[in-house]
Amino acid sequence: MTRNTENSGNTGNAGNTGSTATLLDITEVSTAFVTAFGRQPDGVWSAPGRVNVIGEHTDYNDGFVLPMALPQGVHAAVARTESSRIRMLSLQEPDSPVTVDLDAAPGEVTGWSAYLAGVVWSLRAAGYAVGGVDIAVDGNVPAGAGLSSSAALECAVAYALNDLFDLRIEASELARLAQRAENDFVGMPCGVMDQMASMTCTAGHLLFLDTRSMVTEQVPFDPTEQGRTLLVIDTRAPHRLVDGEYAERRRTCEDAAAALGVTALRDVSAEDLPAVLSRLDDDVQRRRVRHVVTENTRVTEVVRKLRDGDLDGIGPLLTASHVSLRDDYEVTVGELDTAVDAALDAGALGARMTGGGFGGCVIALVPSDRADSVVDAVRTAFDKAGYSEPRAFTAVPAQGARRVR
Ligand code: GLA
Repeated sequence: MTRNTENSGNTGNAGNTGSTATLLDITEVSTAFVTAFGRQPDGVWSAPGRVNVIGEHTDYNDGFVLPMALPQGVHAAVARTESSRIRMLSLQEPDSPVTVDLDAAPGEVTGWSAYLAGVVWSLRAAGYAVGGVDIAVDGNVPAGAGLSSSAALECAVAYALNDLFDLRIEASELARLAQRAENDFVGMPCGVMDQMASMTCTAGHLLFLDTRSMVTEQVPFDPTEQGRTLLVIDTRAPHRLVDGEYAERRRTCEDAAAALGVTALRDVSAEDLPAVLSRLDDDVQRRRVRHVVTENTRVTEVVRKLRDGDLDGIGPLLTASHVSLRDDYEVTVGELDTAVDAALDAGALGARMTGGGFGGCVIALVPSDRADSVVDAVRTAFDKAGYSEPRAFTAVPAQGARRVR
């Protein structure tokens, strides 16, 4: 999903920290649908990408996360058909429509269409009566930036199918089914954060999610009101070995939980951490466990501070999260560390990598009047290091999945 990723409404000298564009056009995806399939869609559904404020690599450990939906997302124009096929078109790859059988199995579909066909597969595998469909999608979440363009695709389609086939699945279950599509059809062993964020976030709020109980709380978040800006800086670092490394981190956590005799690392409390670490022989395991346990504590502290109106107080927790992800979890790369250091040097209140790591984006909480100079500082540092030019935008919490036509 790469179209319309540039910002509009830019302000200031750097001209790159203005609000993000939400330029996805409903008419465009509908028109493409009509051209491709020769009829009107039954409706158009939309789901956003996300940025995670804190709670990284905790979701597959039954832990806490705190993401927000972005204004960038995916539109899906969808219609039921009498056929036993899924016909799919992406406006990002208009010359390569894909048709697959409704019974397409994991491994039989690859590329962008696997996220769509995977959702159909997941719903059907769970016993829901989903029949043939035509789908056209259009998106503006930058692909490969760690902003969950894949969850946006999955959730837009899941939401559409839930409506069109009158399945009455509640949002968190729909998110789980979308996650299953990604785990078992696409083959990426992700947790449930991205799909829950895309499905259930609300405008103006962060989503505080307990990934074990699936209990959610919408936490009001409006930094602008307090003269603060949450910047997202896309380092444009190419993802390296992402899937293999991600799966390996996940396995290490599961092995550590098994060695400790707990269901998941969520069950290790901050108080017990020193004792628990002394029971693990492997230094890598020890560091991974320390990250997960301390990160869960940081999430709950951030939520507490936000509830208390102490926005600036979350800055050091964001930075501590980055340090933990860099040193203990080892999922950062030079671009992410450079961006965080440069942002902090230029006056950010806190900064961290966001998402899975190994490339992608950092976030920085900055005084609004310093936003441009922070971005300039990151740019200069990247130039010096010989990295690609980073891109930045202001993150404003947007609405989760919904029907838009
Ligand atoms: C990716 C996964 C999520 C989560 C993050 C790390 O975005 O899709 O489930 O594990 O990495 O927090």
